[in-house]
Amino acid sequence: MSEHVEVETRDAVLHVRLDRPEKKNALTLEMYSALAGALEAAQDDPAVRVVLLTGTGDAFTAGNDLGDFLQRPPTDESSPVLRFLNALISAQKPVVAAVNGLAVGVGTTLLLLCDLVYAARSARFQLPFTSLGLVPEAGSSLLLPQRVGLARAAELLLLGEPFDAEQALGMGLVSAVFEDDELASGAEERARRLAAQPPTAVRLTKSLMRRAERAALPDQMKEESALFLERLRSPEAREAMQAFMERRKPDFSRFH
Ligand code: COA
Repeated sequence: MSEHVEVETRDAVLHVRLDRPEKKNALTLEMYSALAGALEAAQDDPAVRVVLLTGTGDAFTAGNDLGDFLQRPPTDESSPVLRFLNALISAQKPVVAAVNGLAVGVGTTLLLLCDLVYAARSARFQLPFTSLGLVPEAGSSLLLPQRVGLARAAELLLLGEPFDAEQALGMGLVSAVFEDDELASGAEERARRLAAQPPTAVRLTKSLMRRAERAALPDQMKEESALFLERLRSPEAREAMQAFMERRKPDFSRFH
C-alpha cells in the first residue's frame, strides 16, 4: 500500500483518494500499485459496489511523477502503471471519478476508462504527452478520437494545451460539472445512487457499453506501451523532463 493513497469503504462505495497534495498528487510507482491493489480487491469484495476516485487539495493528479519517469521508468508490461490501467480496464464494478482540480496526463486519460466523471468548475485538464517527447497512453490514442472526434483529439494530443471543465463537458469527456464546493457531495451522492442500482444489471450494462473498445484496446495499448517505453529513453523526452525539473523551458530546436 502507499501512504499517498487513502482507501475507505462507506455505504457500499470504495472511496479512493490520491493524497500527495504537496506534489499535486503526482503518481509514484507505489501509488499505482496501491490503486491497482484497491481496484483488484474491490472486484471480490461484496461490501463494495462502486469505486469513487478523487484527489486531495487543488489537484486530481498531475499525472505520472516525472522524477520516477527519469529514475525508475517502467520497463515492461508488469510495471505498476500498466497493472493499474489493466485493473481499471477490467474492473467490472463501476468507477466514478470526481475531478477536483488539475488532471494532467494519465490524470485525464484514466478518465476515459471511468464510468461516471464529475468535474469541479475549476478543474483543468491537459494531455502533454507530445510536449514531453512521449506518446499517449492508457488507450487514449484510440479512445480520445472516438469520444471527441479526430480533429479535436489531434489538438488536445498534439498541442497538449490545457482545457477547462466546461470544454471537457462540451466534448463529452465529463458527465457533469459541479461548483467547486459541491463536487465532493455531488459525486458521492451519484456514487451512492449507483450503488443502490441492481448490481448485475449495472455490471452488464457497463460491459456492453465498452464491448467494442474492450476488443480493440489490448492491441492499441501494446503499441502505445512499446512506443512509450522507447520514447521515455529518447533525447526529446529527457530534455522535456530535465527542463521541468530545472524549471526552464525545454529546447527542442536541435532535434529533427
Ligand atoms: N511529477 C513530479 N512532481 C510534480 C509533478 C509531476 N508530474 N507535478 C507537479 N509536481 C511537483 C512540482 O515539482 C512541485 O514540487 P516542489 O514544490 O518540490 O518544487 C510541486 O509538485 C508543485 O508543483 P508546481 O509546478 O509548483 O505547481 P503549479 O501549480 O505551478 O503547476 C502543474 C502545476 C501540474 C501545471 C505543473 O506542476 C506541471 O506541469 N507538472 C507536470 C505535469 C506533467 O507533465 N505530468 C506528466 C504527464 S505524462
